[in-house]
Formats: sequence, structure tokens, C-alpha cells
Amino acid sequence: MSVHSNVKRVTTNTLQEMKNKGEKISMLTSYDYSMARIVDEAGVDVILVGDSASNVMAGHETTLPITLDQMIYHATSVVKAVKRALVVVDLPFGTYQGNSKEALTSSIRIMKESGAHAVKLEGGKEINESVLRILSAGIPVMGHLGLTPQSIYKFGTYTVRAKEEEEAERLMRDALMLQESGCFGLVLEKIPAKLTAKVSQELSIPTVGIGAGGDSDGQVLVVHDLLGITHEFNPRFLRRYLNLYEDIKGAVGQYVKDVRSRDFPNDSEQY
Ligand code: KIV
Repeated sequence: MSVHSNVKRVTTNTLQEMKNKGEKISMLTSYDYSMARIVDEAGVDVILVGDSASNVMAGHETTLPITLDQMIYHATSVVKAVKRALVVVDLPFGTYQGNSKEALTSSIRIMKESGAHAVKLEGGKEINESVLRILSAGIPVMGHLGLTPQSIYKFGTYTVRAKEEEEAERLMRDALMLQESGCFGLVLEKIPAKLTAKVSQELSIPTVGIGAGGDSDGQVLVVHDLLGITHEFNPRFLRRYLNLYEDIKGAVGQYVKDVRSRDFPNDSEQY
């Protein structure tokens, strides 16, 4: 039975209730109408229009180049498809770090032009003023700590963050601050599982982890990774449910053969 036969929209309150009841939250990225429709109908609670679109949709090496207009384009397509999930959109690099007014302007554009339900920002103390200003306009905000890919040139590597005591303590302080500011949830990316457990226990708002162990209140993956479309990306945390890279390549290869051999179209495939 489709989840849409009796659709009850997921809201930020739903996610809080799920945490309170100890129910795990499923979150997955989508960037286009067709994929978002499948992901939503499969019952995913939160769809993230992640700036990972910069990598998997546009082919950039990092998430830095994607623009606000491009994020709005992706988010608009996703929102059209979604009937149940909460749609969260990443504020792209350079559209919120400058000052809180710019952060609010960028968030308002996303909400107004795409119809999405919330925004996500990377960082802690340094972006807290922006978080407060966006929230003051009634826009729900999700935080993102740990490995924050928009800062990749500062980190220099995509390895696990907050392994050292000092960084782990800073992450905990940032998490508590984001909660205090009013964030409805927090993504924790690539940090030790023990730290995830500690943060998730300490916070009353839900945490959603990626490469952060099983003790966050939910899990998030990039849909292209889960489906095996991005076959060269193989971090330890990734569980692949399909190998679509090979399946699609095989199907397209067969199509090419069929066209060349005149097998396609056959008599029943024409008018
Ligand atoms: O952009 C993205 O896909 C993300 C997830 C990895 C959490 O931020």
C-alpha cells in the first residue's frame, strides 16, 4: 500500500515526537522530481535537497560551486513530487556566512521560490547569529556539525572529525548552542559513534547521523550512494542497496546493441 493513501505530512513536530518515542528518523537526499517521488512514496521521513547536488548532479569535486539559484531549481522540482516528507534545503556556500541579513535573504528566497519546509546550515558558533535571524522569520533551521563539506579546504581532508577531546568538546558546545537557538534538528557527519551517542543523549532535539554510528536519532545518506550510482565512492559507513551504475550501464549497452542490430524497434514497437 502506498504511504499516500492516508497522507499525514511530516513536520518538525513529528520529528520531535519520534525522538521522544524512541522511533528512528529516516532521511535521504533527492534533487529532482522523479527521484523525490519514489523516495517519498517509499516512506522516507525527511528529504534533504543537499548541496551534494554539486557533486552528484553537477559533477563538481566539492559542494562549494553550487549556487542559490541552482539549489532553488532542485528544491522546486523535489517539492512538486513530495506529499509526505519534510523537505529540507541546504543553504549553499557563500549565501549565509557573510552576515545574518544575507542568510535570512537566502533562506527567504528558498522558502518562497521552492515551497520547501526548512533550511540547513553548516557550522556552530560562527553561524549562530544567522541561525537566530532565520528563525526569527519563522523558518525552521536544521544544524550540521562534524564534517562540514563546505569547509573542506580548511579541513584539508574528508576524514573523521572530532576524534580529539578539544574538538569533541567544541562540537558538544556548538550542538547545545544550536539547540538553545531553536534549531529543530541537527545533522552529525562523520564523527566517532561514541560522541554521537553522547550528543544525542544530551540534546532534546533529534540528531540525524551520516557516518556517525547507530546512536543518532536518525540516519541520512545521499540517495545516489545508497543506490550505487556513485560506484567509486566507498566509505566504510555507506551501505549500498543496489548497484545501479552497473545495471544502468548494462541496460544502456543493450539498447545500443539493439539499435545497431536493428532489433529495436521491432514490429510491435511501431505504428
Ligand atoms: O548535502 C548533503 O547531501 C548533506 C548530507 C550528506 C547530510 O549535507
